[in-house]
Amino acid sequence: MRPIQMVDTKTQYHKIKPMVDTAIMQVIESSAFINGKAVQDFAINLSTYMGAKHTIPCANGTDALQIAMMALGLQPGDEVITPSFTYIATTEVIALLRLTPVFAEVDAKTFCMDPVALEKAITPKTKAIVPVHLYGHAAPMEEIMAIAKKYDIYVIEDNAQAIGCNYTFTDSSKKKTGVIGHIGTTSFYPSKNLGAFGDGGAIFTNDDVLANKMKMIANHGQNKKYYHELVGCNSRLDSIQAAILDIKLNYLDEYIVARRKAADFYDRAFARHSKIKTPFRAPYSYHAFHQYTLVLEGVDRNGLNQFLADLKIPSMIYYPVPGHKQKMFEQFNVATQLMPVTDWLTERVISLPMHTELDEEQLNFISTKVLEYINK
Ligand SMILES: Cc1ncc(COP(=O)(O)O)c(C=O)c1O
Repeated sequence: MRPIQMVDTKTQYHKIKPMVDTAIMQVIESSAFINGKAVQDFAINLSTYMGAKHTIPCANGTDALQIAMMALGLQPGDEVITPSFTYIATTEVIALLRLTPVFAEVDAKTFCMDPVALEKAITPKTKAIVPVHLYGHAAPMEEIMAIAKKYDIYVIEDNAQAIGCNYTFTDSSKKKTGVIGHIGTTSFYPSKNLGAFGDGGAIFTNDDVLANKMKMIANHGQNKKYYHELVGCNSRLDSIQAAILDIKLNYLDEYIVARRKAADFYDRAFARHSKIKTPFRAPYSYHAFHQYTLVLEGVDRNGLNQFLADLKIPSMIYYPVPGHKQKMFEQFNVATQLMPVTDWLTERVISLPMHTELDEEQLNFISTKVLEYINK
């Protein structure tokens, strides 16, 4: 059996190596390392894939969130509602910009923002909502957008974990997650569904004014070289990463099919087990399975994590400490906030290896060992 990894980017690379190597060499030969044709081509192709009017490539998914929030003209103390059950990047940038993070509870089944909790968290100071499509499952965007419209609040979708996820609305129309809100952001961190060979990120919007502002912010606040109208930052996707991503974009849908196949295998193996909840798939969400995350009931989760590690099966706890309990947010007095679902999930989730290269032998070994531990 091939060694089991949480993510196997090397095997994935080897399947497209000649194309990727040629694309990298072309950038090197062109010497257009910054903002070269490769970046522009990738942005155009990604816009087409996403159905976005504008795609703004940037340095990483955290910068993408920061630039999106900077573009909204928010003032210190303005409130931004986000889940506590997410990767720290989502919430950290809110505090970094001297805005106030307000944590809303998630749904126990989808792991994503609960619209009822969202509406309860809205105050006159709420200026933005940042739903997260966690693990590759879409947040309930139709309900979230209706609430945002009612209160006239911006929505920034954190799509770092769900690029390639499709959302089906009640009228049967479809959109990609990341282009439903006013702005969407994503990450090309190597382990992501569309992973670079280094860092990368992108911002999506259909709003011309916001697009221009975000382009400027990502480029030191300038439209014209050396004329800086806004306080911005330096956040660029480099040309080599763009060239690699442009090749991989052609395979993204195929990659997601492979992830979903692995998820189906796990689902079958763990079906109807009283101590295991397999990932829920809401009818509106075409799950992109960035992670395959179980919720365990009455199982020593850390014991399982160690048992698997001893067998050279990696597993991960995403995330062991929810945002509202992170020390960095002490100043907001949120540690004692009641977040029963988030706290419950934090203690019970475990993510199994999930990537495009898992074969049946590996999946069988992983699921057999998980069941062996849980049934003992
Ligand atoms: C939900 C979420 N938001 C934001 C980010 C930040 O992306 P990056 O690591 O590219 O800065 C990540 C990725 O790690 C993420 O999972």
